[in-house]
Amino acid sequence: MKSLVLLSSYALLASIPSSLAYPGMKDTMAEIREAASLAPRADSKQLIGDLKTLKDSQLTSVGKDLKAILLGTKTAQSASIDTSIPPGTVDSAACKADPCCLWKWVSYEMTARFNGTSGRCNKLARGAVRLGFHDAAVWSNTTSYGGADGSILLTDEISRSDNNGLSAIADQMKQWYNKYNKYGASMADLIQMGANIATVVCPLGPRIRSFVGRKDNAKAGPTGLLPDVNDSTDKLIKLFQAKTIEPHDLVALVGAHTTSQQHFVDTSRDGDPQDSTPGVWDVAFYGQTTGSPPPRVLKFASDIKLSGDSRTKPEWQQFIGGQAHWNEDYASAYTRMSLLGVNNINDLKECTPVLPPERKSFTNQDQVVLDMWLQGQFNQLNNMVDDAAMLTGLISTTG
Ligand code: HEM
Repeated sequence: MKSLVLLSSYALLASIPSSLAYPGMKDTMAEIREAASLAPRADSKQLIGDLKTLKDSQLTSVGKDLKAILLGTKTAQSASIDTSIPPGTVDSAACKADPCCLWKWVSYEMTARFNGTSGRCNKLARGAVRLGFHDAAVWSNTTSYGGADGSILLTDEISRSDNNGLSAIADQMKQWYNKYNKYGASMADLIQMGANIATVVCPLGPRIRSFVGRKDNAKAGPTGLLPDVNDSTDKLIKLFQAKTIEPHDLVALVGAHTTSQQHFVDTSRDGDPQDSTPGVWDVAFYGQTTGSPPPRVLKFASDIKLSGDSRTKPEWQQFIGGQAHWNEDYASAYTRMSLLGVNNINDLKECTPVLPPERKSFTNQDQVVLDMWLQGQFNQLNNMVDDAAMLTGLISTTG
């Protein structure tokens, strides 16, 4: 219904001659166009955390925006960027006066660490996306604790087998926590900022609106809430529905495997990717999971099942070739993920402008060696994805 009202409002506004335009109208139209472009969805959208009980009159502007994002009437992507140079040090009075200044420093550091010399996002970036998921998703609507609370690194949660493969990003994130916590950065925020920065550092990745102010929890989250690669579709759908994540959003979220390289599903194939373009946030993953990718691509059993189940197949098919659609839906679904278990959503602050810019196009300059790697050559070179340019000299490092 809401979509219909918005659509007809947009049609009306679009028909207004430019002579009748007024200052600020462009923004209004852009917002309405954006909301109208969000496809009506069959899935019901649930509110979470404090947004479940707060009245509209009690909402801050962040609370209102996040409520709209969760209900699917506002985009979770933003191009808003702050290109100013932050004050000289993170502990200067000028920096302390701006709640996002600290996050600008964090963003600079994370962006530098997440970029591979190949121009693709690297292992740490892919780990950061998965770490964000594994901290937040240890929550369900029947648990009273857990979620995006930093507990994955503040307790021994990280040593659970679910988290195999995350040790490098865990060590890096703890270093950032030791450096920035004294200036007010919670582990929970560092992890979720890390996921969003890593996503946009990956070429073609969406620029997801990013919020800070989550509280840390030094209690390990409940067990049994993360998916297993051999789970049935029924189990996966139920597991995510208990996190208020509907099948449509589950399909969007698993698309993160577009960037990944597995290590533990098949240890004899350590480093094998889940599509032919690891380190790039493209939609090749969706088509290749149902198709015949190069031999080195290792498809996860869970992804194959989701791609073929009648509850998830239609969306899967839509994402094949639908980069803009997928980016929009991923941004929205991940925003929900990043708020699971957060009970002060209304008090969060938005620091999206500190994120680096997105890259809307990308060409692998080292495709010729990547193709050889994908065919099964250079077995020992798993860092090919991150550093092919450096390894092969295919991209000049002198500019
Ligand atoms: C059906 C649900 C899911 C299952 C069963 C699943 C399973 C896995 C497995 C088994 C790996 C490989 C780990 C390794 O061997 O190193 C992996 C990697 C990864 N997953 Fe998922 N996952 C799921 C959903 C998600 C979601 C929702 C996200 C993000 C929002 C995500 C992001 C990633 C990323 C980025 C990697 C690559 C990590 C790297 O390259 O180091 N996954 N996942």
